[in-house]
Amino acid sequence: MGNCMDKAVPVDHNTSYQSKLGSKSISSSNPSTVKSGSTRSTWTVASYKDSREHPTPRTEGEILSSPNLKAFSLGDLKSASKNFRSDSRIGEGGFGYVFKGWIDEQTLAPSKPGSGMVVAIKKLKPEGFQGHKEWLTEVDYLGQLHHQNLVKLIGYCSDGDNRLLVYEYMPKGSLENHLFRRGADPLPWGIRLKVAIGAARGLSFLHDAENQVIYRDFKASNILLDMEFNAKLSDFGLAKAGPTGDRTHVSTQVMGTRGYAAPEYVATGRLSVKADVYSFGVVLLELLTGRRALDKSKPVSEQNLVDWARPYLGDKCRLYRIMDSKLGGQYPKKGAHAVAGIALQCIRNEGKMRPAMSEVVEKLEQLQDPKYNIVAPQVNTWQTSSSSSGSVPRSPMKAQPSPRRLSGSASPLPAAAAAAAGFPLPGSCRTEQVH
Ligand SMILES: Nc1ncnc2c1ncn2[C@@H]1O[C@H](COP(=O)(O)OP(=O)(O)OP(=O)(O)O)[C@@H](O)[C@H]1O
Ligand SMILES: [Mg+2]
Repeated sequence: MGNCMDKAVPVDHNTSYQSKLGSKSISSSNPSTVKSGSTRSTWTVASYKDSREHPTPRTEGEILSSPNLKAFSLGDLKSASKNFRSDSRIGEGGFGYVFKGWIDEQTLAPSKPGSGMVVAIKKLKPEGFQGHKEWLTEVDYLGQLHHQNLVKLIGYCSDGDNRLLVYEYMPKGSLENHLFRRGADPLPWGIRLKVAIGAARGLSFLHDAENQVIYRDFKASNILLDMEFNAKLSDFGLAKAGPTGDRTHVSTQVMGTRGYAAPEYVATGRLSVKADVYSFGVVLLELLTGRRALDKSKPVSEQNLVDWARPYLGDKCRLYRIMDSKLGGQYPKKGAHAVAGIALQCIRNEGKMRPAMSEVVEKLEQLQDPKYNIVAPQVNTWQTSSSSSGSVPRSPMKAQPSPRRLSGSASPLPAAAAAAAGFPLPGSCRTEQVH
């Protein structure tokens, strides 16, 4: 097959970690420790499948021989992606580019571009130890875990210094692109709720697995969407086996993405599933507000979404002020308030006060009930629960001012939009003034 598993990337186990915290693609703080010798990597990662008490680490060879995965050669993937041509490129992350490719559905051999099954091929930049470690962790977890809300890994390639991953293609791309990319069609409320439920189910599955998995990198760019906006989690490079026995956390190096990482984990390195719950709360805030978890382009007091949004979340009279202006006021007051309440629980500072993901799933599912989806009839010109359309028909009314423009004394949403969203008009609230 031409896959060079025995030519694993040479690593130095003392290599400093590359941290995603801060920004994408920060180089290792000490790149010179990444050797390019000929020693085969022998480090191992814990397998979730093994005994509950003592997950047994699996060797790299064991991980790569998963019967669920195809080992591709670099040549296969070059042919499948038009030689990684720039017009096949569909995304870029901290660890490299993602390309569109085509393979035969039966044999998984590369097929003529445009025919057969579409796949997404992630080609890692040669990063040394950390890149290889995350690649192998991803192969390990996704080679074993299967669920409708986890992206399917079809195979991998390890050829010389090249590390690639081949996934099912997710035609609607990432949630991040839908929420934040300039020119993207706004996501209607019903789709936002659907995405939140799908992603919550994915996390809940990991947390409730026989051998618990902590995902550790929950964020909008790692939530991928299929044609019907079903959400699937991707990127398991930072996933970690949960604590065993009576322990509540595992102690580990702080990794993740700033703005999404739970405060206690960042402060202490103590990692539990409740860190994922926090990150989930942050994504709920992104869905509600259309703002990024961390946005350096905003005034300092507004850069951190959690800090900025928290005071508005529990108050019906104020929530409408931070709702995504791209919704054009077209969301149900009851549903939005309930989602804000769930987000508020998820972002609690104390991990143990946050709900379990199974509870979150249950609460979000209840919000699909029509009683939570009543939008004021005078502006309800489209279906909030539509699952097949990614665009919001133009609202007849003016969108609310972007929260981006809210200053320390932001003006409230225009009265018509507030009423349309089912919120009490500002006059009926005592606490409507933003301070
Ligand atoms: N299976 C897939 N199907 C379709 N598009 C994909 C797929 N996987 C990734 N992409 C696209 O490629 C982009 C880059 O993904 P990648 O996971 O490399 O980086 P990221 O998640 O944006 O950032 P980070 O490196 O911080 O995790 C995604 O945002 C998405 O648009
Ligand atoms: Mg990603």
